[in-house]
Amino acid sequence: MIIASAPAKTILFGEHFVVKGCPAIAIALNVRSNVKVSEHGDLSIKVKSLNLGEEMIVDLNGKPVKLSPNLTPYTKIFEMLANYCNLKQAYIEIKSDIPIAAGLGSSASIAVALTAAYSRYLGLSLNLDEISRIAYESEKIVHGKPSGIDNSIATYGGGIVFEKGNIRRINIDKLSEAFIIIANTGVERSTRDAVLKVLRLYDKYESILMHVYEASRNLVNEAIKHIEEGNLRELGELMNINHGLLSAIGVSMLELEELVYIARKAGALGSKITGAGLGGCIIALSTKDSVEKVEKALKAKAKWVLKASLSMDGVRVMEKEH
Ligand code: MEV
Repeated sequence: MIIASAPAKTILFGEHFVVKGCPAIAIALNVRSNVKVSEHGDLSIKVKSLNLGEEMIVDLNGKPVKLSPNLTPYTKIFEMLANYCNLKQAYIEIKSDIPIAAGLGSSASIAVALTAAYSRYLGLSLNLDEISRIAYESEKIVHGKPSGIDNSIATYGGGIVFEKGNIRRINIDKLSEAFIIIANTGVERSTRDAVLKVLRLYDKYESILMHVYEASRNLVNEAIKHIEEGNLRELGELMNINHGLLSAIGVSMLELEELVYIARKAGALGSKITGAGLGGCIIALSTKDSVEKVEKALKAKAKWVLKASLSMDGVRVMEKEH
């Protein structure tokens, strides 16, 4: 039996500004999805999601035989692995601790863990670049034109700077004391609507907002230095500034502001919107001194709260007798 897991991600700095070419920073969180591959009696590949209660069946050419709305995009992985060798019958179980549709990269994490586990089961030894590339193809089916941030973080772990399609890894080893608390407003967001709203505002007030974009670019460059030096206090301050910039471009709202200020009042070093805004989640940065208090305060208001440390590790694979 082969078991693989891969981490979730969060955008620490630079969402939205990244859409117009500014850099953004994403980090891996120690909340993982797990994929278990074992032998299966039939001459097919059966994939079951324990979270969704859905299953699909794929034939040994990588073509779906029994479809499932949320699992079908992953057939791309089998199709691509069929180019390396003959596929083998298998029973594959997916169990993820990553909330879905929350900007935490749940589908990419599953795609990476699935690629790593099933390729190992086939006897292949793919390198990390190949795993990430295959997972990216399946992400394209889920998200249309993804940036590649999610599959990269899920594969390599740690932190990355993303700028104009290029991905550069950064060292987050000195952030091992940090906790990220994610709190969901319960307001459903549309990334597409939020992105369009921001772009429209930019076009209308370009001479003003170009300076906000420039500020975000400088902020990210400053943040990279503090991440690599492990300066949590400064990172918290920069998160607060980044939140202000996101408010300036119009993606905050009452429910997000409430959570942001609840976290700060409870002792977070910094807090901000993460992802598209206009709903969705905030993140707060804490150390062990304040993390319980911040978590408790947010739980009183948020739809759900998740506490995570950073994950230096990306995808992990292991073999088990049973
Ligand atoms: C959404 O998670 C992040 C945005 O910057 C959109 C994008 O980068 O595609 C708002």
